[in-house]
Amino acid sequence: MKRLLIILCMAALTAASPFPADAQGTSDIALKKPAATKMDLTDALGARRSTRAFTATPLSNDDLGAILWAANGVNRAGGKRTSPTAYGRHYMKLYIISDAGAHLYDPEAHRLTAVPNAGAKKDVATQGYVSRAPLVLVIVADLGRFPLFVTGREDRIRIAHATAGCLAQNVYLMAAALKAGTCFVAGVDEKGARKALHLSKDELPLYVMPLGYPAK
Ligand SMILES: Cc1cc2nc3c(=O)[nH]c(=O)nc-3n(C[C@H](O)[C@H](O)[C@H](O)COP(=O)(O)O)c2cc1C
Repeated sequence: MKRLLIILCMAALTAASPFPADAQGTSDIALKKPAATKMDLTDALGARRSTRAFTATPLSNDDLGAILWAANGVNRAGGKRTSPTAYGRHYMKLYIISDAGAHLYDPEAHRLTAVPNAGAKKDVATQGYVSRAPLVLVIVADLGRFPLFVTGREDRIRIAHATAGCLAQNVYLMAAALKAGTCFVAGVDEKGARKALHLSKDELPLYVMPLGYPAK
């Protein structure tokens, strides 16, 4: 009976997760177009907070899709985004790491593209609680995607940090509206994240955001 209960619990957890346990991050994942949330903006702002303890329940595919769309999804013609970007350029990249592997968010297709042979959640953050969340969102700036007239690397980094802040607040608000939890975390293991996600020299990991449902 006990064994049956364990099997049923594991089956329920696997069914809720967009990341099949056997995929090892090698499969792309289609995300659904986000539905309207049941919470309005004022209530979501009232509920916004940082969460550092999560249940083991994986974030549902629908909630993950809604959070990624809120962060950096396409919301208008011409590929324009939910978050503002300097010069209208698309220099921010979002990675999701689960226990099954890592994926890169493709805003145009609203899909997750598998990152082959990626590292683990623990590789990207300096604070232990982050990797205990079911998912970790890694916010990366591709400094090579700025217009050539922004000549200084420091200028590009400064602008990228500001953009990450805009994007992160959208993550917080959508998470609040969905009763999910997150935290904007500057404690990034830059070397670990570079290795885990096979980042180029122009791709700079800036922040991580654990994602899941808050533990009561
Ligand atoms: C730029 C920035 C960096 C942050 N870095 C961390 C961090 O490294 N670790 C962490 O646990 N929280 C981090 N936070 C979250 C803050 O600690 C949190 O927002 C603050 O304590 C207020 O709590 P609240 O978000 O629940 O209102 C950061 C927030 C900001 C804006």
